[in-house]
Amino acid sequence: MKPESYYVTTPIYYVNDKPHLGHAYTTVLADVLARCQRLFGRDVWFLTGTDEHGQKVQEAAAKLGIDPQTHVDGTVQRFQEAWKRLEIRNDDFIRTTEPRHKAIVQEILQDLYDRGEIYRDEYDGWYCVPCERFFTEKDLKDGNCPECGRPVQRVREANYFFKMSAYQDWLVEYIQAHPEFIQPEFRRNETLGFLRKPLQDLCISRPKSRLAWGIELPFDRDYVTYVWFDALVNYVSAIGYRRDDARFARWWPAIHLMAKDILTTHTVYWPCMLKAMGVAMPKTIFAHGWWLMGSTKMSKSLGNVVNPMDMMDRYGVDPFRYFLMAEMVLGQDASFTEDAFIRRYNADLANDLGNLLNRVVSMVGKYCGGKLPAPTAGAFKNGPAADLFNQVAAAATGLKASIDDFTLSAGIAQVIDAVRATNKFIEAQQPWTQARAADPGPLHTTLYAAAESLRVCAGLLSPLMPTKMAELRAALGMENPMTVNPEELTKSEVLKPGTPVAAPGALFPRIEAPAPAAETKIETPAAKPAEGKKAPPPGTIGNPEGVIVYDDFAKVQLRTAKIMGAEAIEGAVKLLKLSVLMGDERRQIVAGIALYYKPEELIGKTVVVVSNLAPIKLRGVESQGMLLAASKGERLRLVTVDGDLSSGAVVK
Ligand code: MSP
Repeated sequence: MKPESYYVTTPIYYVNDKPHLGHAYTTVLADVLARCQRLFGRDVWFLTGTDEHGQKVQEAAAKLGIDPQTHVDGTVQRFQEAWKRLEIRNDDFIRTTEPRHKAIVQEILQDLYDRGEIYRDEYDGWYCVPCERFFTEKDLKDGNCPECGRPVQRVREANYFFKMSAYQDWLVEYIQAHPEFIQPEFRRNETLGFLRKPLQDLCISRPKSRLAWGIELPFDRDYVTYVWFDALVNYVSAIGYRRDDARFARWWPAIHLMAKDILTTHTVYWPCMLKAMGVAMPKTIFAHGWWLMGSTKMSKSLGNVVNPMDMMDRYGVDPFRYFLMAEMVLGQDASFTEDAFIRRYNADLANDLGNLLNRVVSMVGKYCGGKLPAPTAGAFKNGPAADLFNQVAAAATGLKASIDDFTLSAGIAQVIDAVRATNKFIEAQQPWTQARAADPGPLHTTLYAAAESLRVCAGLLSPLMPTKMAELRAALGMENPMTVNPEELTKSEVLKPGTPVAAPGALFPRIEAPAPAAETKIETPAAKPAEGKKAPPPGTIGNPEGVIVYDDFAKVQLRTAKIMGAEAIEGAVKLLKLSVLMGDERRQIVAGIALYYKPEELIGKTVVVVSNLAPIKLRGVESQGMLLAASKGERLRLVTVDGDLSSGAVVK
């Protein structure tokens, strides 16, 4: 059977802008939806691009003393490079200055003009230059532009108009009869509210004397077409409209994604244009919310725009993509703060997902010689492994549903819940206890089931974090880690017992929140430098003496340990002999903390231990590790773990 097709678009961004968090968001969203749909076996086409005509481009080029085409040929690269960096896998990138687009816009204009859908008239109204929009007297707010509040100019000129008003009744009926057409529902109601006022005809031209940088009207060479009439057409010109009927029929109708700022142009202008052109309506127009900076709108003029490149440099591409998708409830506004990013990263990726992989790989290493064990027969039919797998498979179904009904963050949460359930399953099954039993069956089933769960969760999260999840799947010994097969997401026992597993290094090293400047010396290692940025070799600028590179730090293995016993050492006033539990391993550590802690105060504390230090003897007593502590002047305090965490956890 031919897979159902799925055509998804982003707005085409103003080429003059620098890509910022808002642009990155819609583009990552489209990419994730496209990748998810591909994952679930659909035939996908994903289009993005740039809007390259208009007054702002003309002015910017004039300022630089270059022609507009040269100017946009340069600035477009900022978007193309940003999307490459963000792992955006668009099938096409359309620029409105390309001949393939301009020709179609002109054909549509000519056709509508020939059929009387476009007429010439004298325009008399108010014009806002910065917004590039016309307003009637009634639209104005205190005599100023209703959008930006700036003064408007009286304009009287001949122009061309599209008979949009003729489609008002039809559009209202269409919206009412098709609940999936405009989403979320409150945006649909907003559009219907807008359509309660009489719809005006749309002025679709600008005299060249005022704006030359646009697509010329084929029936009047003194005019160019208005930006929106040009821009919206990209959604059809890119897929073969009027050129390749089979191709156009394969992809149309589209799912258009955008933020609420350009709702009306998409839910009113565009449907009326399509209706006049005799083209079917888009399947869905989905307007998401705004990313706010704290509680303020992100805007260039406020200088609070987040550069997605900075975030990627600092924290890596995949975690940034994950955060954007998991944090914003589709349709609602969301607040962007670095703290929120770090919190979510540490909770979902470092603690839950990364830790699960470490646990599985290290226990398979320790108990099964590094090779995936075989589960007992029937373990996935009923019992704890089967229950766990059912929850994981339900997350696959949930994620699939969430991409169709635009509740992506809920679908993602379900996958992370499945990861958490797997960590709980390990706690409940206690493989470290099972390892002591004569029958290895239960231990093998536990480890295999946890690995299976990870496999599916990584597959489900691969549209969000393509590289990281491929690394994870490679660590589980999967042959084609980049290729996720849709059937394997709900099928158990896919991993092959006997396959060697190997940790890829810390997949999601924990991020320490930027520390406030403090004098306290904390004897913990420095945080991992940003992914993708290699620390320069010693001696170069940026790596002054005393600064280590990540590889140096990576040699130090830190783990949490619970202090089970503590006693003084005869003849050594400063030392205490501690017995600690690190996972299921007991160790003896001699620590120079007797002046600061009484033995009984220490019992039950979860501390941080350097676990790969060669054992040494202190006052004749063997020490198998070292505790971390912070000291200042006369005080010393042990580094402990914030909150409840079982011992043996990797500290990074
Ligand atoms: N060129 C027009 C669109 C024409 S589409 C036929 C345009 N360009 S834009 O560069 O201003 O892009 C607007 C879009 O960028 C929004 O609809 C949204 O997709 C994205 N965002 C810009 N700022 C945003 C936020 N602060 N938050 C979320 N998305 C935002 O309008």
